[in-house]
Amino acid sequence: MSLLTLDIHAVRNIQHQSVCLAPTLNFFYGANASGKSALIEAIYILGRAKSFRSASIKPVINFQHDHLVVTALIAQSFGLTNHLGIQLDGKTIEIHINQQASQNKSDLAYALPLQLIHPKSYELLDTGPHLRREFLDWGVFHSDEKFLTIWRRFKKALTQRNSLLKTKQLSQIGVWDKELVYYGTIVDSHRRQYLEKFTPVFTEIASNFVAVEGLELFPISGWDLSRNFHQVLQDELEKDVRYGFTHSGPHRGDFQLLVNQRLAKDFVSRGQLKLLVMSLKLAQVQLLLNQNNHFGCILFDDFAAELDVINRAKVLRYLADCGSQVVITATDTDHFGDLSCLDNYKMFHVEHGYIKPV
Ligand SMILES: Nc1ncnc2c1ncn2[C@@H]1O[C@H](COP(=O)(O)OP(=O)(O)O)[C@@H](O)[C@H]1O
Ligand SMILES: [Mg+2]
Repeated sequence: MSLLTLDIHAVRNIQHQSVCLAPTLNFFYGANASGKSALIEAIYILGRAKSFRSASIKPVINFQHDHLVVTALIAQSFGLTNHLGIQLDGKTIEIHINQQASQNKSDLAYALPLQLIHPKSYELLDTGPHLRREFLDWGVFHSDEKFLTIWRRFKKALTQRNSLLKTKQLSQIGVWDKELVYYGTIVDSHRRQYLEKFTPVFTEIASNFVAVEGLELFPISGWDLSRNFHQVLQDELEKDVRYGFTHSGPHRGDFQLLVNQRLAKDFVSRGQLKLLVMSLKLAQVQLLLNQNNHFGCILFDDFAAELDVINRAKVLRYLADCGSQVVITATDTDHFGDLSCLDNYKMFHVEHGYIKPV
C-alpha cells in the first residue's frame, strides 16, 4: 500500500494542494512555519481520523474554512487502488472508501496503515502508560484482524461495569465481570504474544542505531498476576464501588522497556531515548512487512531535529531499503544528507502552504 496522489483542503496553512507521491521516499523541505508538519498532519488525519498535534480538530482547520478534507488514491496489492476520503468540521466525521460512506475509523486504519515519528515521539517512553497501550494495541490490531472485535467487546464490558459501579447497581455486575474477564484475558494474551514476536525485531533494529546492551520489553497486564483476573475483580469490588470505576484490568496494561533491568527512561540519555522510540516504531512496521509484505506509509516529521548526522545517514539507508513508502520533512535539503546513492525518490519544496515538486 502506498499513497499515489494526495489532495489536501484547508489543513492549517494549506488551502488546497495536490501531490503525486513516489512509492518509496518522499522528501519535503521548507522554512519553519511553511506547512511541512501540516502536510504530515493531513496524511495522519486520513489514516487515523484525528490529529497528532491537537486534541480537537478545530485548530487544524484553516481559519478561512469551516471544514477540512483530505482524499487520496492508495495503491493496493495486485494493481488495485482504493480511494479514501475524510471530511471533518470539528463536530462530525465523514469517511468515504471507494465512494461508500463508512462509520468506522478502523476502515481507514486498515486501508492506510501509518506510522508516525516526530519530535515528541519520545513521550512514548517518558509519560504514563496510555501511549504505550495505544502503541501495543496498534501493533496487535494490524497484525491480527480479529483483535478489533475482541477489544471492542472488552471495552463495552468495561464501560457497562463502570456505569453499574457509579450508580451502585450491583445485582447485574456479575454478568459484566464474566465478559470483562473473558475478553480482557484474550486482549492481554494478544498483547503478550505480540510483544514476544516484536522483541527480536526491535532489538535487531535498535542495535543499528543505539549502542545499549541488555534491551528487554516487559509486559504489564494491569492486574496482580498472582491471582486470576476474576478473583481480582471480586477482591477489589468494594474499592471499585467506592471510587466508581474498575481499578484492575487490561485497560491498565502497559509495557516497560528495560536496559540491563533498569527502566530505559531513567537510564539512557535523551538522544538514546529518541533512538529507542524510533526503533520501536520502525520495528512495528518491520514486523508487519515481514508478515504481510506491505505497509502503508511511514511519516517522519522534522528528521534533523530527531537525529545526528551519522544516524540520519543510517536511518535513511534503512528507510530506503525497508520497502515501505516514507514521507520525511526537514527545514533544509542538506538535513536529508547525501541522496546520491538513492535512485528512486521525490523531492518537494514547501512554502507558505504551497507544495511544489522539485
Ligand atoms: N488553523 C490554521 N489556519 C491557518 N494557518 C494555521 C492554522 N494553524 C496553524 N497555522 C499556521 O500554519 C503554518 C504551518 O505550520 P507547520 O505546519 O507547523 O509548519 P512547519 O512544520 O513547516 O514548521 C504556521 O505558520 C501556523 O501558524
Ligand atoms: Mg513542523
